[in-house]
Parts: sequence; C-alpha cells; structure tokens
Amino acid sequence: MRVHVADHPLITHKLTVLRDERTPSPVFRALTEELVTLLAYEATRNVRTETVTIQTPVTRTEGLEISRPRPLVVPILRAGLGMLDGMVKLLPTAEVGFLGMVRNEETLEPTTYAERLPDDLSDRQCFVLDPMLATGGSLGAAIEFLFDRGAVDVTAICLLAAPEGIAALEKATEGRDVTIVLGALDERLDENGYIVPGLGDAGDRLYGLV
Ligand code: PRP
Ligand code: URA
Repeated sequence: MRVHVADHPLITHKLTVLRDERTPSPVFRALTEELVTLLAYEATRNVRTETVTIQTPVTRTEGLEISRPRPLVVPILRAGLGMLDGMVKLLPTAEVGFLGMVRNEETLEPTTYAERLPDDLSDRQCFVLDPMLATGGSLGAAIEFLFDRGAVDVTAICLLAAPEGIAALEKATEGRDVTIVLGALDERLDENGYIVPGLGDAGDRLYGLV
C-alpha cells in the first residue's frame, strides 16, 4: 500500500479552516470540494491513458486520453458524497458508483446499508472518496468490496487519517494495489474512535445531525 500525504500550504490552510469548529456547513462543504480537487490531482497521477493523435490548427500531434473502461469513482455515503463534485470536476469522464456505510459508534464496526456499483469491475481503476480514515474499518471494507468485484487497483482520497487506521489498512490490503492520498496524517484516535486533532464528525458537519 502506498500512502501519499499532501504537503502544500494551500491544502494545509484549507484544512485549518475545515477543522475549526466555528466553520459553518456551507463553508465546510465548499472547502471539502476544493480540497478534493487539489488531492485528486495527485490521486490521478497514475490514471490509465492512451496515446491519441489529434490535429491542432497548425499540425498533427500526439496527446493522451483517459483509457476505457472508464475509471470508477465511489463516494462512501454519507460524508464521501461531499467529495464527489470536486472529484468529477477533475475527472469528468469517470463513472460513479455508490456505497453506503455507517460505523457503529459503540463497536466502531462498519455496516453496509446501500450499494450501487457495476457487478463486474474487471480491469477498472477505482477511486474511493471518504473524508475520514479513522480505524480504517469502513475504507477497508469498501476496498475489499471493490477487489472482490474484480477491480485492478484502488486509490482512496481522504482528507484526514489516523496512524492506527493506516496500519490496519496496510494489513487488510496486503498484496493488493492500493494507494491512499491524504490531506493530512493526524496524531491518533481518541477513546471514542475519533481522529485527533481531526475535525469532528464529517457527515454531521457537512449535512447536519441525524
Ligand atoms: C465516518 C467517515 C468514515 C468512517 C470512518 O462515517 O465518513 O466513513 O466514519 O471511520 P472508520 O475508519 O473508523 O471506519 P460515518 O460512519 O460516521 O457515517 P456518515 O458518513 O453517514 O456520517
Ligand atoms: N468519523 C468521523 O466523521 N470523524 C472521525 O474523527 C472519525 C470517524
């Protein structure tokens, strides 16, 4: 598993505002979208492409187009939905599948309550979106789901992660082609499984309490 932690002042600045408890939902949503677009630039570095020849007004030349089958973007509901628009802005030809997962806040175990993905992901590059990688349970289950359907490689974009979740994912995805792109790697998990310093509950901050 490869882990790439973004190191850019714009990303750190936007994360600082996102972490601030005074930041209201509309600003939180806008910043999430901007951050994903910046992280997607790194996450799509190895997107599969093909060489094409085009005619400019001046001459014929070679360029690249995104290969088929088209990449699949998978936001993990609910919080991952806040990352979708930022991602498809950068990768407009991608298809989008959905996974709904919720973590039991007592046991910290994830359950899957919704799934809308192609049955066969053979030969597909997948990009999973979830702002928070805490214990790694939700992302680990999502990644396993995609490989079980035939995905060739999976790249996850997360705004924040805890070292405990990264270690758990390393174990769970051994031998798989997995890349994790992070806005920041935080210090630890607290006794409730929340990322410290973190930003609190991402889903609640995006969409309000349920
Ligand atoms: C959050 C977050 C991740 C998960 C991370 O979702 O968006 O999916 O928790 O925790 P983990 O790494 O310990 O599994 P949550 O379950 O709160 O659902 P929500 O997106 O609907 O708020
Ligand atoms: N889910 C969140 O939304 N935030 C955390 O810190 C951990 C899990």
